This record gives sequence, C-alpha cells and structure tokens, in this order.
Amino acid sequence: MNKKVLAIYFSQSGQLGEIIDHFTAPLIEAGVSVEKVRVNLKENYPFPWTANGFFSVMPNCVLDVPAELAPFELKERKYDLVILGYQAWFLSPSIPFNSLMHDAKLTGILNNTPVITITGARNMWLNAFVRVKKLIHATGAKIVGNVALVDTHPNPVSFVTIFHWMLHGKKDRYLNIFPPPGVQQTDIEHTNVFGQHVLNHLNENSWDTLQQQLDADGAVKLNYNLMVIESVAGKIFRFWAKMIAKKKNRLPWIKLFKYYLVIAFFVGAPIILTIDAIFFKLFSPRRISAKKQYYLNLN
Ligand SMILES: Cc1cc2nc3c(=O)[nH]c(=O)nc-3n(C[C@H](O)[C@H](O)[C@H](O)COP(=O)(O)O)c2cc1C
Repeated sequence: MNKKVLAIYFSQSGQLGEIIDHFTAPLIEAGVSVEKVRVNLKENYPFPWTANGFFSVMPNCVLDVPAELAPFELKERKYDLVILGYQAWFLSPSIPFNSLMHDAKLTGILNNTPVITITGARNMWLNAFVRVKKLIHATGAKIVGNVALVDTHPNPVSFVTIFHWMLHGKKDRYLNIFPPPGVQQTDIEHTNVFGQHVLNHLNENSWDTLQQQLDADGAVKLNYNLMVIESVAGKIFRFWAKMIAKKKNRLPWIKLFKYYLVIAFFVGAPIILTIDAIFFKLFSPRRISAKKQYYLNLN
C-alpha cells in the first residue's frame, strides 16, 4: 500500500519550507504520498519585523503562550510518518509551532505515529528541542529522527546577519561584507541525503537505526560552547519573561531586554565560556556527556 506522509510546519521567510522541500524530495520521487501543509497564525507577525515587534514576542515564546492558527485541513486521519518542522524563537519553540502542537486537528492524528523533527535555526535550538520533545510525547507520538540545520558561521557573525535578515526581510549579504544569513544553501540542499535515509526506513517500516545514519551524515551537530551559553541563557530568559509578563506596559521592559541581550551576548557570553573552560570543561567529562545526551536523546 502507498505510504502516507504528512510534513507540517510554519515558516515566516520560507526557509523552513525550502528545507522541507529538499528533505521530502526523495520520498516524492519514490512515489510516497507526501502531504505538505504550511500553517499560519490567524494574525501573522509582519515580516520583516520591527525591532520592538521582534523582541515583544519573547515572553509568550518563553512562557509557551499559544496563539490562534488560521484554519487548515489535513487529508488523512492516520499517517505512516509525520515530519514536524519547527523553529526556535528565543530558545523556545516558536509561537506558531507551539500553537500547532495545541491544535486538536494535529494532536489527534499523532498518537502512535512515528515523527521526525526538523529545524532551521540560527544556531541555538537545544532548549527549544527539549520542549518540542515534551509537546510531541504528550500526544503519544514517537520521535524516530531529528535533523537540526543551523547557520554555521561564527556566533557573533550570525547574530549580526540574522538581525539584518529579520529587520529587512532579505536573506542577502549585510553591507556586502557579511555572509548571507540563515542556513547555508548547500546545507538546505543536503537534506536530500537525509530524506533518502528516511525513505529506506519508511519502506522497511523500522526506525531503529535512522538517527544513527542521519548523524553519520551530519544531520545534528552539537557545539559545546553554544550548549553552555544556551543552558545559562535559557534560565535568564525565563526570569525576564516572567517579569515582563507581569507588567501592564511591557514596551519599556522589552526595550530594556533588547539592550540587555546585546550586552549579554558580547560581554556576558565570553565570560561564561571562560569560567566554564577554567572550572568545568576539562574536569567533568561525565557531566558534559550526560548534558549532551539530555539535549539530543529522542525519547
Ligand atoms: C522572534 C525570533 C526569535 C528567534 N530566536 C532564535 C533562537 O533563539 N535561536 C535560534 O537558533 N534561532 C532563532 N531565530 C531564528 C529562527 O529559528 C529561524 O531560523 C528563522 O526565523 C527563519 O525561519 P523561518 O523558516 O520561519 O523563516 C529566531 C527568529 C525569530 C523570528
């Protein structure tokens, strides 16, 4: 019988859509029925963002506050595989993805279904992934594979270029000096290779070794320094989000958070990494490997 696959995602710029297209191409070529659904919020955030608009979504991202989705349809009531595309916003599942995971139309079909997660992030997706896993497990689905694409340029470079992209709407070279923002085109196209592995496992109806094969082809690369920054930043974002959520007039606090983030990024993060390198990195390999597992485990 013809296998049925659902690939469902939100994408603001279209980047995640392009990733999904390349990822699912081998399935489609092999005749698998792939239903691609791009969801939207009822009231989408404008793209490009204004700076205040961009930062104003932080509390609701971090505190998991869903928004209303525009209506969407699914053709089937059961799929052989569901591919869930998500993006990290402020180290959290994006509001559109979180909203999707609260929609009964999707959660109703996920029970007992193999799920593959795929993201196109700047470079900090680990905290978001931990929460994405919880949302998926709550539906009774089983995660069988994970692909995480990132901008592989140095952290300060991608920090600058993502703001150029988000605030101007163009995925082009800032000042003609910086590299293009976002996930590199070659990496987007390389997801084709991951899709081929998925096809083999879908045909065999066995998922046990999929992640091993995806990893061998570079589907997930964990950067130790970014993991350290993320685990500290996640807690600090939570503090800010809770504090701002209580304010009647959020805007001045959002602006303060914006300046805080720039200082934390360029001053705080190097200090955290230096402390970590002196006191932890060399002396606690077991703790580090447990932390990596915590972030990367599928179930
Ligand atoms: C509000 C907002 C916050 C973001 N925060 C993060 C983040 O914490 N970590 C990260 O790696 N990328 C972050 N990004 C980048 C997104 O994960 C994603 O790469 C980018 O928005 C393109 O996705 P798209 O396909 O929806 O256009 C953020 C983007 C937005 C719009």
